[in-house]
Amino acid sequence: MSDKNAQQHTTSAALNERASRVIPGGVNSPVRAFGGVGGEPVFIADASGARMRDVDGNSYLDLVGSWGPLVLGHAHPEVVAAVTRAAGKGTSYGAPTLGEIELAEQIVGRTPCEKVRLVSSGTEATMSAVRLARAATGRDAVLKFAGCYHGHADYFLAAAGSGVATLGHPDSPGVPETATAETVVVPYNDLAAVEAAFEAHPGRIAAVVTEAIPGNMGAVAPADGFNEKLFDLAHAHGALLVSDEVMTGFRVGPGGVAAPADLYTYGKVMGGGLPAAAFGGRADLMDRISPAGPVYQAGTLSGNPLAVAAGLATLRLLDEAAYRKLDATAAEIQRLAGEALTKAGVPHRVSAPANLFSVFFGERPVRNFDDAAAQDTEAYGAFFHAMLEAGVHLPPSAFECWFVSTAIDEEALSHLAQALPRAAEAAARVRS
Ligand SMILES: Cc1ncc(COP(=O)(O)O)c(C=O)c1O
Repeated sequence: MSDKNAQQHTTSAALNERASRVIPGGVNSPVRAFGGVGGEPVFIADASGARMRDVDGNSYLDLVGSWGPLVLGHAHPEVVAAVTRAAGKGTSYGAPTLGEIELAEQIVGRTPCEKVRLVSSGTEATMSAVRLARAATGRDAVLKFAGCYHGHADYFLAAAGSGVATLGHPDSPGVPETATAETVVVPYNDLAAVEAAFEAHPGRIAAVVTEAIPGNMGAVAPADGFNEKLFDLAHAHGALLVSDEVMTGFRVGPGGVAAPADLYTYGKVMGGGLPAAAFGGRADLMDRISPAGPVYQAGTLSGNPLAVAAGLATLRLLDEAAYRKLDATAAEIQRLAGEALTKAGVPHRVSAPANLFSVFFGERPVRNFDDAAAQDTEAYGAFFHAMLEAGVHLPPSAFECWFVSTAIDEEALSHLAQALPRAAEAAARVRS
């Protein structure tokens, strides 16, 4: 199938031009625009299982999976049936439903959370968790790690100051200095920097927010015991730990990483490809959320029946066998990619803290964002385009994870095995 792709992109090119007239940059989320790899995005017409088809009829093995949610692959029959059934009963009521209880029970049953509140996006989940942490501690500042992404709330769009004593700076126009003045940004995997930040801002930090396994600078392994030590350190300084599992939750295992934390955030997989997310944690904290408590949080479409149906159908299919398959598939793809790149002489690191993994195009071990940024993004761009040409849709950025699904079968793996050597050679050519 890979070599039979016509690789005509004329319809995609026309749509890109048309989209750009009415949508900023032609896309509704920046990474889709191929800015990280050059060229223009392909527009998708339909998808099924492990494959997507674009509007020009090219077919792709999908290793993006909508950036994480599609852990069962596209259009899984049971998920489609659940959503269809739900749609026939009405798309939204603005009143509570049984499905919301069932989804909350699934999450509580699988994770360390005692109570959860459903929202519609990961951005909302982390934003709400931070509001709750601020309310619970009576403090305003937030500590985050460079390279971790927690959605686009103003105070998360912060770049590091010149040292831990300096608070963050806006990382986007439109973010007020006052918003990021409450954000401390330190390097990932650096407990000494966290300790120094607490000492520089005594009694001010409400929450340390971390990705349970960072996936937004590419997949980066937490150092041994890092999440546990972070929890202890936060508590020693009167702060809470928010473990962002929007990417890892229900993907790297039944409940995610489930490292100790006060509050957790989820999204992606739990919506089965529809907009559903959640934040949760200890009941005493969660009961501060309105209407049980005074901390305001709300959403017109929170717990939307279609999203709940898709999420429930997805979680119910994610049993031990599904996780074994995801792990085995991820391991095999890592092996194939590593082998092809080694053979072509391309310096690389396969970083695989879980079935969530990345291939960094450089030799340096990746412990934090500076390490990730040291890779050869041009070589990745050449690799990406050669893979696309061969019918494999990788993340259009060197700073992202490759997402596997249970729909990836032997045929898909052999397609990948065929595509990789030529793409590795394309990457090697950039370097020579
Ligand atoms: C770890 C993490 N947190 C939060 C978010 C934001 O989620 P959303 O895009 O649903 O707003 C993302 C999105 O990629 C994420 O990876």
